[in-house]
Amino acid sequence: MSDSSVYPPSEDFVRQANVSGIDAYRDLYERAKNEPEKFWGELAEKELFWFEKWNHVFEWDPPFVKWFPGAKTNMSYNCLDRHLEKRGNKYAIIWEGEPGDERKITYTGLHRLVCRFANVLKERGYKAGDRAIIYMPMLPELPVAMLACTRLGIIHSVVFAGFSSEALKARVQDLGATLVITADGGWRRGKEVRLKKAADEALEECPGVKDVIVLKRTGSQIEMKPGRDHWWHELEAEVSDQCEALPLDAEHPLFVLYTSGTTGKPKGILHTTGGYLLGITMTMKWIFDIKEEDVYWCAADVGWITGHSYIVYGPLSVGTTTVMYEGAPDTPAWDRWWRIVEKYKVNILYTSPTAIRALLRHGDEWPNQHDLSSLRLLGSVGEPINPAAWEWYYQVIGKKRCPIVDTWWQTETGSIMISPMPGAVPLKPGSATFPVPGVLPEVVGFDGKPVGPNQEGYLVIRRPWPAMMRTIWGDPKRYEEQYWSRVPGAYFTGDAARRDEDGYFWILGRVDDVMNVSGHRLSTMEIESALVKHPAVAEAAVVGKPDEITGQAVCAFITLKGGDHDHEKLAEELREWVSHEIGKFARPKEIRFAEALPKTRSGKIMRRLLREIVTTKEVTGDVTTLEDFSVVSKLAK
Ligand code: WTA
Repeated sequence: MSDSSVYPPSEDFVRQANVSGIDAYRDLYERAKNEPEKFWGELAEKELFWFEKWNHVFEWDPPFVKWFPGAKTNMSYNCLDRHLEKRGNKYAIIWEGEPGDERKITYTGLHRLVCRFANVLKERGYKAGDRAIIYMPMLPELPVAMLACTRLGIIHSVVFAGFSSEALKARVQDLGATLVITADGGWRRGKEVRLKKAADEALEECPGVKDVIVLKRTGSQIEMKPGRDHWWHELEAEVSDQCEALPLDAEHPLFVLYTSGTTGKPKGILHTTGGYLLGITMTMKWIFDIKEEDVYWCAADVGWITGHSYIVYGPLSVGTTTVMYEGAPDTPAWDRWWRIVEKYKVNILYTSPTAIRALLRHGDEWPNQHDLSSLRLLGSVGEPINPAAWEWYYQVIGKKRCPIVDTWWQTETGSIMISPMPGAVPLKPGSATFPVPGVLPEVVGFDGKPVGPNQEGYLVIRRPWPAMMRTIWGDPKRYEEQYWSRVPGAYFTGDAARRDEDGYFWILGRVDDVMNVSGHRLSTMEIESALVKHPAVAEAAVVGKPDEITGQAVCAFITLKGGDHDHEKLAEELREWVSHEIGKFARPKEIRFAEALPKTRSGKIMRRLLREIVTTKEVTGDVTTLEDFSVVSKLAK
């Protein structure tokens, strides 16, 4: 690395930073490493509210961990009640709808909404340990529903509103949910996303669901099934706005969030209460450098882990003002985000490289029409950020004034794991830099032994951290196999990385059959299983193809069953098919029909070769296990 591509924080930023200067970071890191019990115990005491204290800070019985066993706390209390005295009149949520409507909700106001909705749930008989699916657009009632569940210990699972009815059904069934919370619809690029209709389809095969609570957003015609379906506003009108937060075990399950793995079946990642709360609270302070007067905007969707940790729980736990926007960045025009930054004087903006690249492509004139001088810190998440996108974000949006925190983490890790602290660490564009205190990452080879500087290897984590996933819902064996058995004694991230001569981490992407499309995780197997359900499809192999905007794009190779097919028509039909089976965001960008797929002699599809074909248009890698080379030469043409 040449010095010119290192960006130290400005003196002004360092002076005001929560972690000021590299020595302050090193000191935190060393203390967390050398005396984890003391380090986390003191922070938990100082930063959070507890009804009762713990017996131990953590118990590690690999691969299962407990943080703060014996203690009692409550997420909703930490996000709301404890702020009322000092921040009751401060805005907790500033929300803007895609059509331009706006709501500003104070901490007192949010507390009331959450208490009311918790009373609704209580009245209908829901209690700690029950499971609720939340399938809602980006409205303030989405965090309200989440916080109401956590207030009573009801385990929620938010299903991103872009998922189809089929995907929703699978999640309701896997979780054994008895309650579904949804809305009539939401707005996206001026069109209605009809959520209730999708929920109705899904629930035809979910007899376990007793109640569906429906928020009115678009006012469009929907069916309400008598006895099962209820309007949110009608139930809410009948209850009080006072509801005590229940003291819950620190290890009480908080939520399950489904994510794609290497098989066709999504995994329900389980997070619990106390450790998760501490992890997101500290990273808000260390990495987003939160100050009392900040307006903070994470432009992700609450349906993904980024939204759980850094739109809802993290920001509210530290008592900041969190901005939520319902719709698309190009509606009505490509300056929508910059309008929002200007209007609400946003100080901190957190988004994905895909969004940055899309904004970059539409030109500087959009941001340049707006006053972005309120911004002081920028963040990136979800995929590696390429230097060109980094530079644009830094210069055109941040005006060379704002550090960029490139945060590496996962649904499974709960909180940010590798990221610069903005007032401490000199940045290198494209590197997530250094680990967060308490995180012990390593780059290792096949044998689990660390590799040298600048050598590629697998990224693993050596020690449990507070916000770590606890298990896969209903499948502790899969948890153990997938995360803790590849490299004994270490958590296997599924990412490749290298560490440079200065100790900076560079994340290189997934090493398994998980793709990253627009910062969304998709499993090749999941899309393949959807495709082979189509009556015309014999076999399907899906790979990620490098894409200028979305990082990777879904590319499907298909062999067909006999008969005549109109390829163009069928390709469109298959795209629709995948939208219906999983969701629009999983639609293959490219579909290639083939006579045969490359296979090993034992009949396994060699996706590696397909990846090479879509990336470089030729195959240079090892083909000794390939059964029939002519297949590959035909495909490469
Ligand atoms: C990738 C999103 C490079 C990585 C929070 C990881 C990143 C997967 C970064 C998790 C980053 C996330 N740089 N790659 N800053 N952040 N990733 O579960 O491959 O949706 O394993 O969580 O995204 O995706 P997930």
